Amino acid sequence: MKNIVVIGVGYVGLPMAAGFADFGNRVMCVDVNEDRIAGLKNGIMPIYEPGLEELTRRNVAAGRLIFTTSYEDALNGKDAPAEYVFIAVGTPEGVDGEADLRYVRAVAETIAVTMDHPLIIINKSTVPVGTGDWVSDIVRSKQPKPIPFSVVSNPEFLREGAAVTDFMYPDRVVLGSLDENAAQKVAQLYLPLRAPLIITDLRTAEMIKYASNAFLATKISFINEIANICEALGADVKEVAAGMGYDKRIGRAFLDAGLGYGGSCFPKDVKALSHMANIQGKHPQLLEAVMQINADARRSIVSKVRDLVCANDKRTSGRLNRLEGKVIGVLGLAFKANTDDMRESQPVDIIRMLQADGATIKAYDPVAMENAGRLLKNVTLCEDSYELADGCDAIVIGTEWNEFKNLDLVKLKKAMRHPIIVDGRNLYDPTKMRELGFTYRGVGRGYV
Ligand code: NAD
Ligand code: UGA
Repeated sequence: MKNIVVIGVGYVGLPMAAGFADFGNRVMCVDVNEDRIAGLKNGIMPIYEPGLEELTRRNVAAGRLIFTTSYEDALNGKDAPAEYVFIAVGTPEGVDGEADLRYVRAVAETIAVTMDHPLIIINKSTVPVGTGDWVSDIVRSKQPKPIPFSVVSNPEFLREGAAVTDFMYPDRVVLGSLDENAAQKVAQLYLPLRAPLIITDLRTAEMIKYASNAFLATKISFINEIANICEALGADVKEVAAGMGYDKRIGRAFLDAGLGYGGSCFPKDVKALSHMANIQGKHPQLLEAVMQINADARRSIVSKVRDLVCANDKRTSGRLNRLEGKVIGVLGLAFKANTDDMRESQPVDIIRMLQADGATIKAYDPVAMENAGRLLKNVTLCEDSYELADGCDAIVIGTEWNEFKNLDLVKLKKAMRHPIIVDGRNLYDPTKMRELGFTYRGVGRGYV
């Protein structure tokens, strides 16, 4: 049993804290968000993440998972002083794509002035290469009196919507430090997972995280480029991806063409890596292409809606607000299925582009409605897909939620003013959709 502190109970911090508690450790979670901590003390989850509520409840009940807003209580508790302190606060996009490290800085400063005994400080947040050294400098310079500490980089690779499983069954655990002994101590925490372990230096560990995310983003932009070419040449990108994926050197994962990547990670991390390269006088031309293709994927959906909805409408030709008077329904608002996270959501971006073109928007998401409602203006939020379909000139599929895969499409079509579907997630079979009487466009599914 180890005494662990996790700072920041968000999409990474909370699953990790509950996971470590489940291995029998005592985990204190600190967050500056008082509402979050008060809610967690009352069993209210701050985020939607399958399996997290049960895991959290079990470990709270066992007395192994504790929530507080007090760094003092978490770090220096008399009965259980912390040995390990994980930093899991946000590192959002800052100016010019640079990672904004203000929260990491605040945490490092607070640890420095609060700690009263030696600690291993572990960075879970995704941070620019060199941040581990920077955190060391901050802690050292802000300590009222010198107390030994080590800094270890331990990037996280979990996905939202699968955070608990990904934490419990990681493909690998990466640890980077200048202090080999500290890295080995952190490695002990992960022993129950039996995952491959990579122990390296701080900067290399930090780079492994960015390189991994940038590679996955590149795969997505690659398949979106292929999808675009498929549309011109009459090939089906879904089958192309399947055919490519059987090659073990390529793999099928992350070859789903669609709206491009969104979410709280890939967009900001690709930008941050590109920014790091530029600052060093390197030209990250592949990363720049990845970002451009990604932006185009969203614009392409809006063009498809415009083309199909206005195809036979002579009044709209040449007009700026071509979708004026048209009702477009958007099914799915989260950046991917199984999450309520709205950060960098592609459907939200698409809604704004459609609104700028004069469209009236109806929207529905099985889980993310509350968060989406705070972001979206002048959008009618519906109770379900069929209420949404009522009177629509077209529907855009924004998120690949399971419930959209099994819709009663005949009922949906009856409710619509015009049976047009632009499927940003390639959920349906184009031939079947045509047989049902829909005008259907996916992404890269043969001639458009
Ligand atoms: P999040 O926004 O969901 O959670 C961050 C939490 O930190 C919030 O609850 C916030 O109140 C708290 N916080 C901010 N400042 C604080 C402070 N000074 N002291 C204590 N708490 C503070 O963020 P997230 O999505 O969990 O991401 C955290 C980090 O992990 C980021 O660097 C991100 O890039 C990285 N990451 C995220 C994911 C993911 O799937 N979301 C996966 C891997 C890595
Ligand atoms: C991603 C990585 O998968 C995690 O390994 C990493 O830890 C995390 O970022 C992070 O660093 O924060 P996440 O953003 O939760 O996780 O979601 P993904 O499943 O990777 O999807 C990201 C985006 O790409 C989504 O918008 C998804 O719809 C899109 N995507 C994914 C595609 O368009 N095509 C695909 O084939 C796969």
